[in-house]
Amino acid sequence: METKVLSSGIRHSNLPESYVRPESERPRLSEVSLCEDVPVIDLGSPDRTQTVRHIGEACRCYGLFQVINHGVPLEAVNKMAEVASEFFKLPVEEKLKLYSDDPSKTMRLSTSFNVNKEKVHNWRDYLRLHCYPLEKYVPEWPSNPPSFKEIVRNYCIQVRELGFRIEEYISESLGLEKDHIKNVLGQQGQHMAVNFYPPCPEPELTYGLPGHTDPNALTILLQDLQVSGLQALKDGKWVAINPQPNAFVINLGDQLQALSNGIYKSVWHRAVVNTDNPRLSVASFLCPEDHALISPAKPLTQDGCAAIYRDFTYAEYYSKFWGRNLDQEHCLELFKA
Ligand code: OGA
Ligand code: NI
Repeated sequence: METKVLSSGIRHSNLPESYVRPESERPRLSEVSLCEDVPVIDLGSPDRTQTVRHIGEACRCYGLFQVINHGVPLEAVNKMAEVASEFFKLPVEEKLKLYSDDPSKTMRLSTSFNVNKEKVHNWRDYLRLHCYPLEKYVPEWPSNPPSFKEIVRNYCIQVRELGFRIEEYISESLGLEKDHIKNVLGQQGQHMAVNFYPPCPEPELTYGLPGHTDPNALTILLQDLQVSGLQALKDGKWVAINPQPNAFVINLGDQLQALSNGIYKSVWHRAVVNTDNPRLSVASFLCPEDHALISPAKPLTQDGCAAIYRDFTYAEYYSKFWGRNLDQEHCLELFKA
């Protein structure tokens, strides 16, 4: 049976041609080493000054870090992971009721990245939800599994709080007022991608997600604890970011690169797949409100430092982002001053 999604319950015995990357774009998995020193920030530390400094270093050198003692209850995290896994185990007919490849839909199950724009597909299915304000969006979320709405709703509230705290640390680490990022981004939107990467017959030839940067402000990623697959570009080399118990991976998106006038990097990252095990991840994205004017913080463009990017609204950025292919040049390049 041919279906639109990969998570059909059928084990795929060969990789269809439409997923095969040209030779020069393949992941070269044997050349990827484990990133031993990915910063782990203890948010439970009473030494705020030190936490701010560590986060600043991580944002400058990696654009990515992990947080522990982050305040999101373990139970909320575990339930989120379980219900995500149950969702993808539903019968394919049930899931297909939610299928759409229209990026403007606020709730949809889809596959790959942007099936109508891309040349080569990616070995991923994903459920994409808008999560803020909750009263507006929860009613349209899946009602199967029956506990889905309540569990995901609770998780979203907790993760949003965490994201706001991290934005404060990041503001301070740039020498800005604690509320600077919050003030610029306005009433932040929140989206979620529940990613499911089925076992793949030929992981050397394709991606779960090819190298990309996230278009939003901040991403809070819950990785599968058993199955690794996240890789980040560090000093020109792809390194594996292995899952760590009770941690979230935090990565900066394009908006924080622009707001920091390029001091902080929106990190290139990708998800690779494997032959043996399905992998799940839950990405929560905090985004500026549509009309937020993204512009480099004033103190960062003084003393002879010119603004690298022109001012733009998030709405303008977002429409450019979805109008292109994920693995093209950095979308921010289109906004150079
Ligand atoms: C994403 C993403 C990585 C992963 O959803 O934007 O980068 O490990 N996911 O699933
Ligand atoms: Ni991403």
